[in-house]
Amino acid sequence: MKDLYNREIDYLRISVTDRCNLRCLYCMPDGIETIEKSKIIRDEDIIQIINEASKTGIKKVRITGGEPLVRSGIYELIRKIRSVKAIEEVVLTTNGILLKGHVKELKDSGVSRVNLSIDSLRESTVNGIVGSTLDFSYLELIKELHEHNMTPIKINTVLLKGVNDHEVLDFYNFSDQYDCEVRFIELMPFESDRFNYNDYYISKEVILKRNSLVLSRKLNNVEYYTMPNSTKEIGFINAVSSKFCEDCNRLRLTSDGYIKPCLHSNKELLVKGKTDEDVLEVIKKAIKEKPKQHKLDKSYTNSSKRSMNKIGG
Ligand code: 5AD
Ligand code: SF4
Repeated sequence: MKDLYNREIDYLRISVTDRCNLRCLYCMPDGIETIEKSKIIRDEDIIQIINEASKTGIKKVRITGGEPLVRSGIYELIRKIRSVKAIEEVVLTTNGILLKGHVKELKDSGVSRVNLSIDSLRESTVNGIVGSTLDFSYLELIKELHEHNMTPIKINTVLLKGVNDHEVLDFYNFSDQYDCEVRFIELMPFESDRFNYNDYYISKEVILKRNSLVLSRKLNNVEYYTMPNSTKEIGFINAVSSKFCEDCNRLRLTSDGYIKPCLHSNKELLVKGKTDEDVLEVIKKAIKEKPKQHKLDKSYTNSSKRSMNKIGG
């Protein structure tokens, strides 16, 4: 179904839990309140919502969190989602920690590929960002994903000034060596006591100049850059500074059962616990109420009250 700005909305991102096994600096504020377990959306609600959403033309589902793999019964849930006829593709965004040794299970449940969140290739930097000591090898996981042909492997890296912004070249080489697509995600403003957005924000322009990167192409919300004398590309997803709202094709379902027409707006429509007819109405309303574009900018402030773990990264 098209929204008021002629955008075909065919993509639903589902946050299946607000919980996470990590505490990334920019995502999970200290002492974060979690949604009461009883309020977390149940499998049957999710399936009902997807069924109704598919009547409006939703064809692709992304499973996110928090960390989606901490939800118990996640593989079974994915299996149920995948068996909704109209859904052509189910993908997953994960920090990967719980995926090692389970790639086959994930693939068998019907997920075609994953986006891995990896913010640094250096152990001490990773530990600093995630707030704990990880005994975990991304390389082994990437190998396992390749073994099961879960490709292309996309890596999401949030660039943080003074933390990992000097690893751009390392990521570039890494993507080449391990056959992954690295995309640098621009830091988006979400409030936290532990984190001052402006201390960590770094602009794409600074990164491009520092690394002599040149634009090669744009595809949907990703701008691809290359280094001189190389064909390998690296992506930038800059939701704040270069809005890609005109290409936005998505709705979001929060882990407590609200549809969010836009990540950066407070508008939420309760969709859980309703009849099929009402669920469909809410989804149609959400599509009609999708704003033309977000009003987010670097000078802060994000008008969404929820932190990322509650909406889904
Ligand atoms: N800015 C940008 N990306 C964020 N994520 C979480 N919080 C933020 C933020 N403030 C994204 C990360 C991670 C995914 C789960 O959510 O890219 O990969
Ligand atoms: Fe967890 Fe991802 Fe948030 Fe990090 S960014 S705390 S891995 S949900």
